[in-house]
Order: sequence, then C-alpha cells, then structure tokens
Amino acid sequence: MAPHVPHVPVATDEEDCREDHGGCEDSTGLTGARTITSRACRVCKVSCLVLGLLVVAMLILLGTSGPQSSGLKAWIVKASSDLSLAAESLSPPVPELGSTATAALERRGTATGLCRNGKFKNAPRIRKEWRELTKRELRAVQNAFWRLKGFSRRKSGGNAAGYAPDSNWDTTEKGIAKCKELNQGVRKRDQNPYCEYFTNYDEMAALHACSVKDPRCDQGHTGPHFMNFHRMVILKMELALMAADTNRPIQVTAIPYWDQSLDSEDPIGRYRNAPDKYIFSENYFGDFWGKPENDYAVVNGLFAEWPVAIWTEERFGSKSKLANQSKCIASEFFKGTVATADDCGDGYTATRWFRDHVECSEYVARQPNDPNGPQAYGPLGGHYGIVYSKEEFEACSTYPENVRTWMQWNTCQDPGLFFCDVPRDELLLLPVRDQLRDAIVPALKDRVTKSIKEIEKALKGGDTPSMPIEDPVETGKLLKRLTVANALAALLWTLSTNLEASADTQALLQGIANICDDPMVYGYFTKLNEERSFPRMQHGQAHFKAGRDFLDVTTSANDCGQFTQHADEDRSNMRFMLLSLRKNYRLEENWWDYPRTQFDVLSNGKPPYGLSGPFTTAGLLACQTDFDTFPFYRWLAGAWTPGTLLRDVVNSGFPFIDLFNSSCPEDEDCSGRQNGGYTNQEIMYYVHPSRTPYTYDTLAQYFDPDCELA
Ligand SMILES: *[C@@H]1O[C@H](CO)[C@@H](O)[C@H](O)[C@H]1NC(C)=O
Ligand SMILES: *[C@@H]1O[C@H](CO)[C@@H](O)[C@H](O)[C@H]1NC(C)=O
Repeated sequence: MAPHVPHVPVATDEEDCREDHGGCEDSTGLTGARTITSRACRVCKVSCLVLGLLVVAMLILLGTSGPQSSGLKAWIVKASSDLSLAAESLSPPVPELGSTATAALERRGTATGLCRNGKFKNAPRIRKEWRELTKRELRAVQNAFWRLKGFSRRKSGGNAAGYAPDSNWDTTEKGIAKCKELNQGVRKRDQNPYCEYFTNYDEMAALHACSVKDPRCDQGHTGPHFMNFHRMVILKMELALMAADTNRPIQVTAIPYWDQSLDSEDPIGRYRNAPDKYIFSENYFGDFWGKPENDYAVVNGLFAEWPVAIWTEERFGSKSKLANQSKCIASEFFKGTVATADDCGDGYTATRWFRDHVECSEYVARQPNDPNGPQAYGPLGGHYGIVYSKEEFEACSTYPENVRTWMQWNTCQDPGLFFCDVPRDELLLLPVRDQLRDAIVPALKDRVTKSIKEIEKALKGGDTPSMPIEDPVETGKLLKRLTVANALAALLWTLSTNLEASADTQALLQGIANICDDPMVYGYFTKLNEERSFPRMQHGQAHFKAGRDFLDVTTSANDCGQFTQHADEDRSNMRFMLLSLRKNYRLEENWWDYPRTQFDVLSNGKPPYGLSGPFTTAGLLACQTDFDTFPFYRWLAGAWTPGTLLRDVVNSGFPFIDLFNSSCPEDEDCSGRQNGGYTNQEIMYYVHPSRTPYTYDTLAQYFDPDCELA
C-alpha cells in the first residue's frame, strides 16, 4: 500500500521568478536592469529553494512504502537523473493544427469585452463569503445543501442539525421532479428556473472521487487542470443548490465561499475571536475539533451529523444510473473503503464507506491532529488552526508582480511540505538519503552558489557600468538577500556533508531538524529574513489542518462546508485573470500560458519540479507506485499527466456538460458536448471575465453591465 498522500502541496521553482523578465525579477540574483523588489517575489525565490528541497519528502514517503521499496530505490535514483535529462531533451514546441472548432474558439477567446472604463459588460451572479449571507440566505443555503443530500428540515425528530431523510429529494431524478412540481401554479417570475440542475450531493462527491482515481493519474489535482476541474465542481454544486431552494422567489443566489484568512490564528483573522462569526462554530461549520468520543464526528453547526454515504455498486458503481454517463463509475475506478471491527472496535459492523481512508464515524469527521495527517507531529506554522492572511491571498493572485502565468498561479497555492511530518528516523532510510545526496542537494547548491555570485556582482555594480551601487536602500536589500542566500547555502552544505558522512546520524538529524523547525516553510524564511511575507499555501492548508475527512483528497467533498474553500481558490484565480487582462492582452491570447503540449515546460522553470509539475512529483508518488490503480500512468513519459492539457476534456472519466446555459449567447453551443465534456480551454473561455456567469463580491467592481464597449 502506498502511504496516504495528502492534498497537493507544490514546490515552487526558483526559476519562476527569474525566467520571465519584467515583473518578477530575480530576487537573490539580479540579472536585468530593472530591479523589481516585490517582496513576495523575493520570498518566492528563497522559499523556492527550500521548497525544492522539501519535495524530497515526497520521496521519503515513497521510500518507506513497503515491500517494493528496494526495487524502487534504484529506480528513483535513476529517475531523478533522468528528470533533468528529460526536461532538456524534449524537442522544442511544434505548432499544432487545431480542429475548426478549436480555431474558432481561439479567435473568440481573444475578445476581451473590456469597456471604456476598464470594466466588463456583463452581470454575473455574485458569490459572497459565508459571513456575508443574511440570516435568511444562510438558512436557505443550509436547507439546500441538506436537500441535495436527501434531507429536509424537521420541527422535531431531526438529527443534531434538525434534518431528517426525505424521500422526495433523495435522488437526482426525484429532486428534479420535485422542483418542477413545486413550480406549478407559481407565477413565472417566482418559479425556480434551475430545476434541471438538481444533482444529488453524493453523486457530485463521486465525480470528485473519480478524478483522483483515474487510471491516467489524478484528473483533478496536482497539475494545471486543478483550478478548472474544481471550478466546474463548484459551479455544478452552485446550480444544484439553487435548484434545491424551495423558497419563492429563491434565496440561494450563488454558492458561498470560505475565506480562511478571516478565521486565521496568525495573524488573528477578523472573525477568529468573534463567537457569532467564527467559521468553526455552531453558526457555521461546527467545531474545528471533532468529538473524540464520537469517533471525531462533527456534531454541531450547519452540517452537524452530515452522513457519509455507503459505497455500493447500485449507488456508485457499475450497476448505478450514473454508469452510462461516466466511464469512471462504469469501471469502478473508486470503490470506497471498508472499516471493520478491527479498526473500529468490537461490535462494529463492517461498512464500505464512501471514503478513501479508514474511518469509523458514520458522519463527517475532523481532527486537526489526525494521526495520519501532517499535524500528527505538531501544529504546522505554530497553530493547529489556519495561519493565512489577506495579504497572502493577494500576493498569490497579483499579476504581474508575483504570478505571471497559469502555472505560477497554480504553484503559489500549494507550497510543498511533506518532509517534516514524517518520523525523523524514517528520514534516514537509504533511498531518501541517496536521492538527497546525488540529485537534489547538488542541484540546489548550484543554484545558491549562482545566486550568491550574482548578488555579489550586483553589489559591485555589475558588468556595466562598473560602479558600486550608491543607493543605500538598494544596497540594503541586496545585503539582506545575500544573508538569506548564505544562510540557505550553509544549511545545504551542512546537509550535504552529513549526507556524505552517512555515519553521522545525529548531525544529519540535526540538519533535518533545522529545516523542519517550522514546517510551514515560510516560517523558515521568516526566521532568516525577520519579516513575514511568503504566501502560505492556501489550498492544501485547509485540507491539512482539518484532518480526517477533509484531508482525504479523494472524498474531501464529504465535508461540504469546508469544500467551499475551493471557491476561494477560484476567487484567487479570477483575480489573477482580471488583473492580467488589464495589463497584458498577450497572456489571455495565449490562454494564460496554460500548457498545450507535452513540450510546454518552460513557464515553470527547471527541475526539481514541485507537486504540480511539469514532471509532477505527486504523479511519481501517488500514481507511479500504484500500478493497479493507475495502469496508464508513467512518470516521465510526458511532462504533464495525460488528460490535463489545454484541449483535453477535464476529468473525462466523469465529464462536465451543460453548465454555461445561462451565460450562453443564442447562436453558440456552450454545452461542452462536442468533445464529450468541457475542455480546459473551454472552461477558461466560459469563465473569462467578459462572459462568466458568476464572480465574487470582492471582484464585483470589475463588472458593469451599463458600461460602453470600447
Ligand atoms: C442547456 O442547454 C442545452 C442546449 O445547449 C440543453 O440541451 C440542456 O437541456 C440545457 N440544460 C439545462 C440544465 O437547462
Ligand atoms: C443512460 O440511460 C438512460 C436510461 O436509463 C437513457 O435514457 C440515456 O440516454 C442513457 N445515456 C447515455 C449517455 O447512454
């Protein structure tokens, strides 16, 4: 059994900051005339080095993965040297001949629809943060979530949240029919126009699980498709929630999103100490710490006692109705996990839960110090709770200073970290040590050496003019970078020496401890630099910190409240898109540099790469090692996971169709059916600011239906 690989962290590559000249200039080495001193970029540079190193931790997990380990060891060592070669030997990009439909899409994609005042002429639905909902809206959203689950509110006799099963709504077909029935006799403008979109909650969760278990490797995470996949899941959920609203007129106007910075422990988020507004309270998602005496179930809040489905063939497998719209379901890529009395104690009846890990609770469970999670050895970033700020959100979505391409945005969401939550003695296992010694550390040492040389050169004034820099501010910044680079160098050299002298276990452990003092990587940088500006991972953090059900990448959608955090990821990506459109049309014309071919590797720098790739380390860990589940995956066979390029259908094992009807012009076909589901390119086209059917409250100022087109 491969070890459980939690959700998605990504090691940023230092080259991210350097390769694109202009906005995000090299931070520890100054290569161009322009010295952009974006803090986040500088931090990126440094952290990238550390993050690169942390990727190794993935390999640690690999190295400890059981009987195959020794065979794998030789393979890993070889693969890591192949990795550099593979990137260099790929031929340069070849022009592609698209289909006529694709060519038309290409042309349409360049119409930005920007008005004279720099806004977009459409009126999308506005998604609000959970705490911005009125009491009525909040109740409507809660009712709608439960109804998708097949539950209705009860005055008495309901569960801890006040709901009980309701057979009027417990399948997709019944929900659609019931919604339509309720429209009868209601005047037109008060009817619910979304009935067709009703989709049972667990069917949407099954779709999410399908992405992870696709035999080609993950079709929803750890790659460029991550955002497009999740924005479709959230959009499908949003339309379903609206369909499930029985108010007339409907009160659910969009899906809410969860901005985790508001609940942060450090800095203290706006609602962290507000008993009525804190997200992990009975008013919203229920307690952050599930009840140990109830198998860590969440038993209060809007979704108290939210049942986890039982996996059966009739419901989620080849015998289900879904099987004819989903290869994944028909072939049973995912079959749930059985919990037995061995796991759960005497008297427990074996149950095949809709989960990819063993859990005993029949309800959604949460445990920040989950023994199988990254906080088992202590809190990440100093707190078991969220550590994330608004500034960090902005840093990761600010074009061009911090993120300049699709993959740079992607890479900013999930800084890598697996290293520090593995028991220290396991870190000493041979494959890991060899990998560190032979591949990763030498590569990193080279980079640091180069950076130091460049900074020193810049301090002397560079090649021309050969004059020392006189600007004291500039000099100060350079010196600071030099300090950081030297500190990193020291760390790497110590580690490397210890690796050579492998007898010195204590010293090696100490070297590792130095890196892991604060496993939220940014913390390491913070310590060196005496400032706190590196964006801590937005996406992975929420999963890591909750533990249990939300940690389980396959079935994280089981925790419906926290799952709305993915809408906040979307908010970040849309902000990046909007800012870039205002400044650089070229990026949009090029589909934000989304990888089109297996040769598109340059926008993400050079190896070692992070979890999302190119040459995704997640693929190496989660898929290459599990041939039974992922028979169609070969690490290094291409730069990107098959199925995730620009023109590939997103999650084709269980594709998305018909989600853009409301924003579709009459003369266009927006169904996504031409290709058997939306492609990445189509999704980016349909959520383009000039035609997106939804946006976010914080981005609403970019839209103005009354504006005049330029
Ligand atoms: C969306 O439009 C397509 C036609 O493009 C139609 O077949 C489909 O039924 C519509 N779906 C919904 C849910 O209205
Ligand atoms: C799936 O099955 C239903 C009836 O069970 C049928 O109406 C529908 O056309 C089928 N869809 C596909 C894509 O085969």
